[in-house]
Amino acid sequence: MEKKSKTSELGKDIEKVSVGLDIGSWKVCAVVLAQSQKDHAPTILGVGIKERRSKPRYGKIDNIDYTVKDIEEAIQTAMLQSNVSISKVNVGIINQNVKFTDSRGIVSISSSHRVIDEEDVQRVLSEAKPSDLPLDYKIIHILPQEYIINNTFGKIINPIGMSGSKLEVLAKVVSVPSLDVENISLCLKRNNLELGEIVLEPIATGLAVLDEQEFESGVALVDVGELSTEVAIFIDGVLRYFASVPLGGRHITDDMRTLMKVVYAQAEEVKRNYGHCYLPMLREDKQIIVPGIKGRKPMTFTRSQICRYIQPRMEEIFTLALESLRSSGLINKLELGVVLTGGSMLIEGVEDLASQVFGMPVRLGTPSDLNYQGLSQEVNKPYFSTAVGLAIYGLKNSTTKEKVEFVQTEDGNAKKGKFWDMVINFFKKL
Ligand SMILES: Nc1ncnc2c1ncn2[C@@H]1O[C@H](COP(=O)(O)OP(=O)(O)OP(=O)(O)O)[C@@H](O)[C@H]1O
Ligand SMILES: [Mg+2]
Repeated sequence: MEKKSKTSELGKDIEKVSVGLDIGSWKVCAVVLAQSQKDHAPTILGVGIKERRSKPRYGKIDNIDYTVKDIEEAIQTAMLQSNVSISKVNVGIINQNVKFTDSRGIVSISSSHRVIDEEDVQRVLSEAKPSDLPLDYKIIHILPQEYIINNTFGKIINPIGMSGSKLEVLAKVVSVPSLDVENISLCLKRNNLELGEIVLEPIATGLAVLDEQEFESGVALVDVGELSTEVAIFIDGVLRYFASVPLGGRHITDDMRTLMKVVYAQAEEVKRNYGHCYLPMLREDKQIIVPGIKGRKPMTFTRSQICRYIQPRMEEIFTLALESLRSSGLINKLELGVVLTGGSMLIEGVEDLASQVFGMPVRLGTPSDLNYQGLSQEVNKPYFSTAVGLAIYGLKNSTTKEKVEFVQTEDGNAKKGKFWDMVINFFKKL
């Protein structure tokens, strides 16, 4: 009841609504974010999460039918909770095929004013499209790295208001295979949803977990998910580098399964409930009993044993992330070190292990660090970072003011009951 009145309380005061849909390899989740007319404060109105019914092996959509169903469940839950009718969603994308290409654009500034304005910046950015982009690729972001005015005055981050007759931009262009976007659209269409913004995942995740100082000073964002670990560097408020390491939480569970000689679901449960990844910080070495399947004998492990199964793989993930940061040539500019996020960062001991491996300050980032109103506590988990960031990206970038439609519920109580059952069931499984 409380959640429903929250939406009605905001009611007509809502100026914009944006929905983030994270189609991850482990889960699909949707976050409904609203911005109020009065103070523009963002409020989280609804959250829906569905663990993938079939775990993709490569790429996030390797079974369209299952993905469609997972999206449907996540969206339905978010819709019931927020009472907002969802028709358009912002979706993230990242895979080994994403291209990050250097590019440049040049325009002349009209001699009548010679002061660079927003329109000039937009013009020069549209000139920065690479000419050799494969035909089956689609540009999703043109990210200005620096501007140069009249050939000489260089390394400018924001040229608006400066005078000059020629504006040049050095940019990074993010492009993705068109087919990937088509597959996402297909899954959405089958749920009567429209694709809003398509966003490079680290850009979205950064918006949810990094603060302004981190964006500006220089920070590495390391998102350890299910199948991969995304590494990104932000300096001067701009994405400067990203890479994907093909290891994540699934590889940790797989190691445990092999070494413990248990089935995957048992290894996953032990990882989530008793996992630790830094032996020197393990306080209580209690025993864990894993029941035997179909009359087999139960097995006993200690937490330190489990830690020995997890730590090497986590260390490998962080070491590969560090190598990637080194190869960027920007590692010495990371004044604020590393921010960790993604579901795998719920394993105890990650911050201590990461500090050892990275040799720089490390903190754990979750979306609630940004103090949103509404259901900010519900999204206070590192696996919600990308979905929240996608919703924020949608709010920041939507220019059209679409009418916010509310779901009409005849029997709010009954639906609420069903909604809470779904949420409780999901968290019970964790
Ligand atoms: N409480 C927990 N303790 C430890 N690990 C957890 C916990 N909850 C979730 N995980 C792990 O987090 C991982 C999923 O993280 P996340 O949701 O960030 O991935 P994803 O975004 O779906 O995947 P990807 O980004 O690789 O596509 C899984 O491997 C899961 O086992
Ligand atoms: Mg992810």
